[in-house]
Amino acid sequence: MLVKAVILIGGQQKGTRFRPLSLDVPKPLFSVAGFPIIQHHIEACVQVPDLKEIIILGYYPAQDMSGFVGEMIQLYKISIRYLQEFAPLGTAGGLYHFRDQIRCGNPDYFFVLNGDVCADFPLIEMLDMHKNHRSEKSPVVTLMAAEATRQQSLIYGCIVENKESKTLEHYVEKPSTFISTLINCGVYIFSTEVFQQMASVFQQKQIDYFNVESGTSFEREALYLEKEILMPLAGTGRALVYQTKKWWSQLKTPGAAIYANRHYLQLFRQRRPERLAKGDEPQIIGDVFIHPTANVHPTAVLGPNVSVGAHAVIGPGARIKESIVLSYSRVLDHSLILYSIVGSNSEIGCWTRVEGTPCDPNPDKPFAKMENAPLFNDDGRLNPSITILGCNVTIPSEVIVRNSIVLPHKELTRSYSNEIIL
Ligand code: GDD
Repeated sequence: MLVKAVILIGGQQKGTRFRPLSLDVPKPLFSVAGFPIIQHHIEACVQVPDLKEIIILGYYPAQDMSGFVGEMIQLYKISIRYLQEFAPLGTAGGLYHFRDQIRCGNPDYFFVLNGDVCADFPLIEMLDMHKNHRSEKSPVVTLMAAEATRQQSLIYGCIVENKESKTLEHYVEKPSTFISTLINCGVYIFSTEVFQQMASVFQQKQIDYFNVESGTSFEREALYLEKEILMPLAGTGRALVYQTKKWWSQLKTPGAAIYANRHYLQLFRQRRPERLAKGDEPQIIGDVFIHPTANVHPTAVLGPNVSVGAHAVIGPGARIKESIVLSYSRVLDHSLILYSIVGSNSEIGCWTRVEGTPCDPNPDKPFAKMENAPLFNDDGRLNPSITILGCNVTIPSEVIVRNSIVLPHKELTRSYSNEIIL
């Protein structure tokens, strides 16, 4: 058997809600729990026996991805390629455009993973379900689904399944009224037969184009997995639903990165405990990742849920909790960092406090997902959120920066609260 995986990463026009963190690094390469977001996808894929190739598909310039891809090949010793779309082709347009690359080597199945979700990916279980189905018709797709709250379900693809046969009965993408609390997680396994369905949707688009002659040429080539492939498959018995109860979340906003950081660290505790820091000097509380090249003073206290990037320096008496400190940053003596992201090459002065507000899912609502809240509320005020320092930000000693967003290359001179510093 031969299996492949495709990770959809979009391009520069996407990921705007992730600013300012996506200003200096493509969002899929932003570091969460010490590793680029899509490295977590790659790690899940390489666990699947018979998975022989990973294709990263997006419209970022190839030079933005080449270093990362080279490192991944070295590390995981598997074929990994970046294929660049000439324009945003939608969630299925790139799959169709590069169908020969995906089909080469004759894979039996291929996974498709949205690059902007994070999860304890149940890929092996999904593959088992897909290939061992018991119905008359062989499935074209098995999609991963999770339970959400009624209100939150509206921002996802909503699924109605046949509970007995586990088939997809009805699918609506981001409905305007309530359909179901079972949502599409953006993780699929397809049989290569899906390309026939894509071909007919594509051909119909070309016919429509010449009849109506609207849109630009790349819109003619764009295809959407959810509306154009999944929706027509609903009710045919050829789409299966794999429901997971494991952790899954979208990663659309910086606040979601803190949440994902915590969960990926927790997964390391179960599966890769050697990646987590231990010890009393510095004092480590709970799950903490420290890059081997970082320099943390023995009197610092870190954790729970902290990641410290490459070559970062954490000074004497510093206290960091629920935060991500990126590479080459310096956190000077006795500073405190809570619920924040410190961009790369930034410096926090001595006795300074950088603090944000957690935006975790409502713990009283079972199945609640992360709210990807907008930056501003209805009164035009900044919603309380984690504090984010872009790259190359300097914060002086003895100030407080609370619930604020600081754009890259700023040198602050005073305290700030609930502000965006442009
Ligand atoms: N290669 C490529 N080209 N990737 C794309 C493109 C494109 O033109 N457009 C989007 N993507 C990637 C994004 O980077 C992301 O990883 C994924 O496809 C889905 O992106 P969105 O179009 O922003 O959809 P969404 O996240 O709002 O909703 C999708 O995911 C939800 C789960 O997170 C849908 O599939 C929903 O049904 C689903 O619930």
